[in-house]
Amino acid sequence: MRKSLLARLPSALLLLAVVLLLSSCGWSLWDAPMTTVRPKSEFGRLTHQIFMLISWWTLGIGIAVEVGLLWACYRFREKPGQPIPKQVHGHTVLEVSWTVAFAVILLIFAVPTIPVIFETQAATPAQAMRIDVSGRQWWWEFRYPELKVVTANELHIPAGQLLAFNLHAPDVIHSFWMPQLGGKRDVIPGRVNRIMLAPDGPGEFPGQCAEYCGMSHANMRFRVIVQSKADFDRWAADQQKPAVQPTDPLAQKGLELFSQTTCVGCHTITGVSGGVLGPNLTHFASRKTLGANLMANTPENVAKWIENPGHMKPGALMPDLGMRGEQTKALAAYLLSLK
Ligand code: CUA
Repeated sequence: MRKSLLARLPSALLLLAVVLLLSSCGWSLWDAPMTTVRPKSEFGRLTHQIFMLISWWTLGIGIAVEVGLLWACYRFREKPGQPIPKQVHGHTVLEVSWTVAFAVILLIFAVPTIPVIFETQAATPAQAMRIDVSGRQWWWEFRYPELKVVTANELHIPAGQLLAFNLHAPDVIHSFWMPQLGGKRDVIPGRVNRIMLAPDGPGEFPGQCAEYCGMSHANMRFRVIVQSKADFDRWAADQQKPAVQPTDPLAQKGLELFSQTTCVGCHTITGVSGGVLGPNLTHFASRKTLGANLMANTPENVAKWIENPGHMKPGALMPDLGMRGEQTKALAAYLLSLK
């Protein structure tokens, strides 16, 4: 017995090392961009409190079960010359009590959870700003109906303002997730789910589709930019302006190309086209990233995207329109003039 314990020492030490390593990773993960344990909104704090309640209870139950198990192993261990113990089957009192105990524990979890579910997906109250979110394959559209602003993949929101997100899915099921702000909810065709939250203060946070939705699910990201009220109002005012007319000859050529090809069938540029299948490009150059936060919004990347969208984002609905070289340069120059 003693020998076998000694023989197990190296594996026990290895297990301890793994646990320590994981817990140190855990400490740094807590401050990582996709962290959910440093909530930056009231919704985030409410869900985090429920998460911690469940975590502490399960930790306690885990410890109690392990201690009980170890005690039973020690207390009822085999001794030399001992006869076979009395054979029993079932124990009504024990079985009824642990069934009742766990039902009570589940009730302890349910009581604080149910109000949070109702509170955070209530109908839009008057003081909330409405934002219609559409999850599409594979990008996000954000509409601000009161402000008459439409944008894609970069969500600007004012700090401290109650926001009511209405989640739409024109194609397949997605999940709208802003880890640090606490919001995560399925986006389902045929119904409108809601998230209501108010971000604490300015900052930039990553967002991500959290439900497998096809080939480029992992490429369905977005940026959340929480701004002061003044900065947000400035941004919204810029977005409300019509698209700028290009002055640079290369960009002018790009506008001509854009207007003469099937680009106009899918993309809106106010005053130029009215397509709604792809992202609204009226203020394309005001966005820092391209392809649902896949890459920086630079002339090289825009040109690469136009020449081979399916390579940049596998499965992308945008076709290769056969434009190359000078044509894509001109188109990139035009799109990046749309501040
Ligand atoms: Cu959309 Cu995953």
